Amino acid sequence: MTKANSVLDLMKETPLVRLKGRAASHPRAQLWGKLEFAMPGQMKDRAALQMVIDGEDSGALRPGGMIVESSSGTMAEGLTRVASLRGYRIKIVTDPRLDAGSVAKLRALGAEVVVVSESHPTGGWQQARLETLQDLLAQNPGAFWPRQYDSPSNPRAYYNSVAKELLRELGTNIAALVASVGSGGSLCGTARALRESIPNLRVVAVDAVGSVQFYQPQMSRLQSGHGNNLVATNLDYSVIDEVHWTSDGEAFNGARELARRDAIFAGGSSGATYVAASWAAEQFDPGQHVVALFPDRGERYAATIYSDEFMAEHRLTDIVAPPSPLTIRYGVDVAKTWSRAELPHHNGQYFAPNVTLSSDFASRLKAAG
Ligand SMILES: Cc1ncc(COP(=O)(O)O)c(C=O)c1O
Repeated sequence: MTKANSVLDLMKETPLVRLKGRAASHPRAQLWGKLEFAMPGQMKDRAALQMVIDGEDSGALRPGGMIVESSSGTMAEGLTRVASLRGYRIKIVTDPRLDAGSVAKLRALGAEVVVVSESHPTGGWQQARLETLQDLLAQNPGAFWPRQYDSPSNPRAYYNSVAKELLRELGTNIAALVASVGSGGSLCGTARALRESIPNLRVVAVDAVGSVQFYQPQMSRLQSGHGNNLVATNLDYSVIDEVHWTSDGEAFNGARELARRDAIFAGGSSGATYVAASWAAEQFDPGQHVVALFPDRGERYAATIYSDEFMAEHRLTDIVAPPSPLTIRYGVDVAKTWSRAELPHHNGQYFAPNVTLSSDFASRLKAAG
């Protein structure tokens, strides 16, 4: 048992658990789940702590000051705990997708929670939240905005911790790292550090169908946590080899299967990651390891992912990922169901596809039917 001076000391050292993988998969490599949700809060505790420490060190966050951040829940929880234990006031801007239990928890932990009421016509909920956040910054001069989407402290938290924990437990025979992407901090920070010891590591990003992060047209979706209508500076394409997109039903039923098969009750981003990682473990040899990062617990999703009524109402009950994904062309084809694409790299350099116009996306969407 660990004796800690406060819960801040517990924001590290998450368990690593051997997984069976999906019933439809035939893993050859050893599949592992890194239970990032097994911290006082969830996966973003590590980033929250690092961003506050760096804010203090730089002088941007002054003693007794105010922290303001936009979050769909996980980062909010980490920041709120860190703020209350280190003596800061905190305002969290979120949107109506955050469940009532999480809002109550944030308020209990000491946050002021501001819920935006309308999604931005093009930038979605993220953009609406960022606009409200700008208003709060203007009203509270000197407030500290940790900026999870841009701050190097976010990936650095994972660079300094998760990779070390994995190398200590598994050594350098890790063939692939599979993780969902929202700000990109957890995947890219961990991958950068692992690559220093494992140059051939395969880095697999998991995104949601309808998210724009990997050159896909924006579409409405129910998945939250990972996926984005904006591209974060912390998403470092240069470290990523391939990306998978899953639809809402595939991700949610993936989470249900993770609960049934491996007794892990987690959120939709973990479900999507489980789908991609179970398949990835088929691609490598016995004796090699494939690691999946699981960001948050399932309780927040009792009324959605884990509700039969919700699944039926959204016609998701039978939308289960097939045994393997479709392989599509990056920046060309539109993913509508579980698909994967290789990111274009040449001589170690990443080349962004030449599609920037929204009209391009519209015609590709039309072509996809
Ligand atoms: C539930 C959940 N899954 C996945 C992610 C994506 O993690 P990252 O922002 O490190 O890319 C987040 C980020 O907050 C999250 O809350």
